[in-house]
Amino acid sequence: MKDILLKKFAEVFGDAEGVKTCFAPGRVNLIGEHTDYNGGHVFPCALTIGTYGAARPRKDNKLRFFSMNFERLGVIESSLEQLTPSREAGWTNYPKGVIWAFGEKGMQVTGGMDLMLYGNIPNGSGLSSSASVEVLTGYILRDFFGFDVTNQDLALIGQYAENNYNKVNCGIMDQFAIAMGKKDNAIFLDTADLSFEYAPIVLEGAKIVIASSNKKRGLGDSKYNERRSECETALAELQQVVQIKGLGDLDEETFEKYQSAIKDDVRRKRAKHAVYENQRTIRAVAALKANDVAQFGRLMNASHVSLRDDYEVTGIELDTLVEEAWKVEGVIGSRMTGAGFGGCTVSIVKDGAIDTFIEKVGRAYQEKIGYAADFYVVEVGNGPVTL
Ligand code: GLA
Repeated sequence: MKDILLKKFAEVFGDAEGVKTCFAPGRVNLIGEHTDYNGGHVFPCALTIGTYGAARPRKDNKLRFFSMNFERLGVIESSLEQLTPSREAGWTNYPKGVIWAFGEKGMQVTGGMDLMLYGNIPNGSGLSSSASVEVLTGYILRDFFGFDVTNQDLALIGQYAENNYNKVNCGIMDQFAIAMGKKDNAIFLDTADLSFEYAPIVLEGAKIVIASSNKKRGLGDSKYNERRSECETALAELQQVVQIKGLGDLDEETFEKYQSAIKDDVRRKRAKHAVYENQRTIRAVAALKANDVAQFGRLMNASHVSLRDDYEVTGIELDTLVEEAWKVEGVIGSRMTGAGFGGCTVSIVKDGAIDTFIEKVGRAYQEKIGYAADFYVVEVGNGPVTL
């Protein structure tokens, strides 16, 4: 890949002298959905697919961007004086947001750069291509300017850029999973205090299969922010009757005891999901540690039901993929992953059943939805690396 990147870089920017090449992964969340902004647990892992970058610092303040995924856009020029988000800036809002965020954190980016990207994460699929670009940009800037930041800081800076520059009110899960990824491990992260532990993903005789619904999200972001504020209001109502910092502080029993403080049925369902999903995640990781993959799978299925019925972020495309997956023998668990409203499902499928899974789920999806889904058998990879 390095050679391809350098060749293309030279083609686009003249030569490839002194170019840094690197990679940051995408991520998939195994369980713990819509818990990361509620002080709950998540259990994502980095993938071996992600974003490749080739970059070189410049002596002036120019920023020149090129994406191999959007060749028709050509080189997009900007500068360090133009760090304000705009629609026209398209994907370059992500790297620009990170440059801006470093400045906000007191680390001035004092020179421009030429940056070329190539991503092999399906776009808009909910495997965090944007967080991957953010962490990759931070990784490059740290190297170019010698900023004293850890990988965990890169995650926080990426999230800060996403929240404040790109105005998507996301939690910390995606950037954290990407910046802190570890081969063959998922990350059991407590978003209340960012304490975490790696848990080996040992799926004897099974693999992680991602199905992309190919439904573009569009409205997703505004619904995402809507769910967040529903949870915030529910939390404020609960705080009238019980001392908690986040919905993640409650177990099921305590939630049931106090839930009547939430004055609206819809909000109560949202909060219920956040509480139950957090507890499910804790249990799922315990099951995995005890080598009980079957139980892990059952909890994945329960997670989907909760996201479908209580959190209402699935939709016919994701429901079809999951419900068809459940029918296939050899599927240990299947659920939507990421924000929802489109994007992907994640399934654990026995090796011998993968072909049938792809065939059957693919056919049923095409018949019901009218266009094809894409399937990826993925591996759990490391965080950002220099190539
Ligand atoms: C998106 C956000 C994450 C998280 C998930 C839902 O991926 O970026 O922070 O909230 O949705 O679990």
